[in-house]
Order: sequence, then C-alpha cells, then structure tokens
Amino acid sequence: MEAIIRPTAAAAAELVAQVIERELRAHPHLVLGLATGRTMEAVYARLVRRHREAGLDFSLCATFNLDEYVGLSPADPHSYRHYMNRHLFQQVNIDSRNTHLPDGQAPDLDAECARYERMIRQFNGLDLQLLGIGRAGHIGFNEPLSALFSRTRVKALSPATLAQNAPLFGSGTSMPRRAITMGVGTILEARRLLLLATGEDKAEIIARAVEGPITAMISATALQLHARCTVVVDEPAARQLQGADYYRWIFANEPEWEAYR
Ligand code: F6R
Repeated sequence: MEAIIRPTAAAAAELVAQVIERELRAHPHLVLGLATGRTMEAVYARLVRRHREAGLDFSLCATFNLDEYVGLSPADPHSYRHYMNRHLFQQVNIDSRNTHLPDGQAPDLDAECARYERMIRQFNGLDLQLLGIGRAGHIGFNEPLSALFSRTRVKALSPATLAQNAPLFGSGTSMPRRAITMGVGTILEARRLLLLATGEDKAEIIARAVEGPITAMISATALQLHARCTVVVDEPAARQLQGADYYRWIFANEPEWEAYR
C-alpha cells in the first residue's frame, strides 16, 4: 500500500482523476470499478471536464459499480444508477450498455449477486477499482464483520452507514436498510486499487485503515493485503497518520509520482 497526501481535497481529487485518465488513455478498453458518494463527485467532475476539454475517450471502456441499494429503481434519484448517470455516464461518451451496477430490484437477489460476479469475470476482471471509505471503515457496503474473502452479496447496512447516508434521503423518503455490494474478496481481485478520502472526519478511520491491524471489523484494512493499492488523502484526512512524513517523502521523491507532482 502507498499513502499519498495532497494539500487540499481538490488536489487529492485531481490526482485520482489524473491516475484514471492515464490508465484510460493507455488502455482504452479499461475495465473500471466505480464508487459513489460525496467524495467521488469531485473526481467525476474532473473526468467530465477532461472529456470535454481534452478529448478523454470513454467509448471503449466498461464500468462496474461497487454497490446499489436494494429496492430502489434506476430512476429513483437516490439510487446509485441515478447518481452515476448524473455525475458521469450522461456527461461523457460512454456506451451505457458497458456500464454495470447490481440490480437492486432483481426478484432473486442472490442470483443477481452471482450474475454480477459472472459479468466481472467475463470482462476478465477489474483493471482499476476506485474506492471511498465510510466513517466506520467500510469499502463498498462491506460493513463490520464482512469476511475478507467475501463476494458480491446482500448486506444489511450498519447503524453508522444509515446515519452517514440518511441525510441524503431527506425527511420524506426512508433509506433502504440493505444493499448489494461487491465483496472484500471481489475488490481485492482488482488489478489496481485507488482509494480517496478527504476531510477531517475521515482522519481517524484512515489511520486505522492504513496503519492499524487487519480486521474484519474494518473492511478497508484488507486493502493492506493488496499488492497495488494507493490511498490518496488530503491534509485534514492525513492528520492522524503516524508515518505522514515518510509518505510525503515518497510522493516528493519516487520517480513513479514525478508526473503527478
Ligand atoms: C459508495 C461506496 C461507499 C462510499 C463511502 C464514502 O459506492 O462504496 O463505500 O465510498 O461510504 O462515502 P462519502 O464519500 O459520501 O463519504
């Protein structure tokens, strides 16, 4: 794992967008794993801008999202399909047939989870998986006690996640209590992982995820097992990292990051 610390949330999102852009330009058939949430909006805004201003081409790539709420239709403004359409898919030249999310309305949810895993395999796996992190440490919706080898399945959302995301649903609508999510094992099979976390309220969980012991209580700690995982944070989210100076030195000096400095 490597941790990259950027001065601001905008600079952190910029770096993540740059990594995705480079991968996509180098591999137009990229199979890209995507995440939703507030943090990712800044990344998608930058990718849309690159598409419009610098011809970043999405026409050949395929995407797989991490998760979707159970019971929400794609037209529901709270569904992750709706989020992706709004923030990315409808604003770039991606073929909508190449965009995949679990179907939260499938009559047989277990069969839907198996289908999703099969689809990822048919695309020869995920090349690059983008991740956010919940305040209690979930990646996707892999809530506390998610098995570190888990596959795509239905998860009951934890009280922490319900509290984190309920404000997005407003007072009129109630938030689903379950979601389909890629498993920790599914995520770990992606060839490259890229996690973005910004803001002081992520500082404690970032320190535990990056430097703490691996535990099923915090699914993000499993990222330490991956051979190619980059965690990008802004200064406020880096505040509790013990090794921050070392991580800053790596970014400032290692040739791999030269193009991003
Ligand atoms: C969403 C997802 C979640 C979010 C996480 C952070 O697809 O997989 O793990 O990435 O809950 O959400 P924000 O960015 O809203 O803090």
